[in-house]
Amino acid sequence: MYPDLTSRSHSLYDRALASLPGGNTRTTVFMQPYPIYAARGEDCRIWDVDGNEFIDCINNFTSLIHGHAHPALIEAATRQLALGSAFGLPTESEIDLAELLVSRLPSVDQIRFANSGTEAVMMALKAARAFTGRAKIAKCEGAYHGSYDYAEVSLDPAPDMWGRNAPVSVAYARGTPDNVLADVVTIPFNDTEAAVSLIREHGPELACVLVDPMPNRAGLAPADHAYLQGLRKITREVGALLIFDEVITFRLGYRGAQGLWDVDPDLTALGKIIGGGFPVGAVAGRRDYMAVFDPRAGKPALPHGGTFSANPVTMRAGLAAMQLLDEAAFARLDDIGQAVRSGIDEAFRRTGVPGGTVGRGSLLKIHFADRPIRDYRSAYTTEREAQRQAVFSRGLLNRGVLAAGYGLMALSTPMTDAYIGKIIAAASEALVEVASLA
Ligand SMILES: Cc1ncc(COP(=O)(O)O)c(C=O)c1O
Repeated sequence: MYPDLTSRSHSLYDRALASLPGGNTRTTVFMQPYPIYAARGEDCRIWDVDGNEFIDCINNFTSLIHGHAHPALIEAATRQLALGSAFGLPTESEIDLAELLVSRLPSVDQIRFANSGTEAVMMALKAARAFTGRAKIAKCEGAYHGSYDYAEVSLDPAPDMWGRNAPVSVAYARGTPDNVLADVVTIPFNDTEAAVSLIREHGPELACVLVDPMPNRAGLAPADHAYLQGLRKITREVGALLIFDEVITFRLGYRGAQGLWDVDPDLTALGKIIGGGFPVGAVAGRRDYMAVFDPRAGKPALPHGGTFSANPVTMRAGLAAMQLLDEAAFARLDDIGQAVRSGIDEAFRRTGVPGGTVGRGSLLKIHFADRPIRDYRSAYTTEREAQRQAVFSRGLLNRGVLAAGYGLMALSTPMTDAYIGKIIAAASEALVEVASLA
């Protein structure tokens, strides 16, 4: 049972406190009173250092779409490791993965690899600035895009900072320069009229509009089709680039979210699943935009290096992961996603606990709100909802299911029907616990 102060996880955390600030080197995995330390993973399961077994619905924050230690990925990565893990030279592997991704995304002619989603988004924003010669960017309130200063703006504004339909730009991290805030226009998610009007107002100064079609931190509500179409139209009108952050949503379908919504962005930021479990990021788009990186005529408009960019271990594992993800694999992921969402929604109805699931494909989020979730503000939790969320998460954990903080679940291809049944059963029992709260 968690927490267990005699556990090995707890003693590792005690040890970590001396050499890591707060015992932590990655804010997202922090947990009170101590995090669970992983020992190993296999298919959709993880064992912790105390020997406890969990079904993993975190999947390293959505990046492991084939679960852990998939034999084809082990093979691809270890074969490359034996040949060398990184060189100060390009390798054929980067062409192979680039060709596969280009073939899946009609909006993409060319691609450039990096080491994380943060870097992918950063390079996409910088590419838009380099292409347009403009400084400002627009992004949605509450949407997470990694840790580049500009992309972090207005990630978690408190209600007392909420303007009416024109969100103000609020610093996420202390020390964010005022100039950064001045160069970010924060737009509401899923409010086409307000977003379009803000983009039109700042149009001549805007390099780009950055949007995640299903932003996890802003509630995981899918974008309305009309919203993305509205952004597509207005960005063309004002001469700004439309950037989709598909670092997470690329796991929604064979052609990512852009295929499902049938809206073509100018640039796409990728990451997570395309690295087959290894660190990765990529910026992709039309040839003329991607030309800002082209070094053939001397110093490019936007120079970009990266010691480990396109390292062949990531490229080979990524290629193997993507090859496994054919249309049939996505159909199966859609089915299990739907089964978990409806199973948990049914348990909400049975127990009378207010709330339910949102999401699409292999992603879902469990909310304890008695209102439709459409954007950051509607997803903003009250104290009571947060308390229910905490009891639920703990209940799930103690029934052997790992979900990310704030109720996010990312499913994986090794999840058989039996595992799906166990996930739904654990969530249903955890909801009974929530229902018994005063
Ligand atoms: C939508 C989105 N964009 C960008 C990032 C940043 O990716 P990374 O953690 O690889 O830097 C994340 C990470 O969770 C993300 O969810």
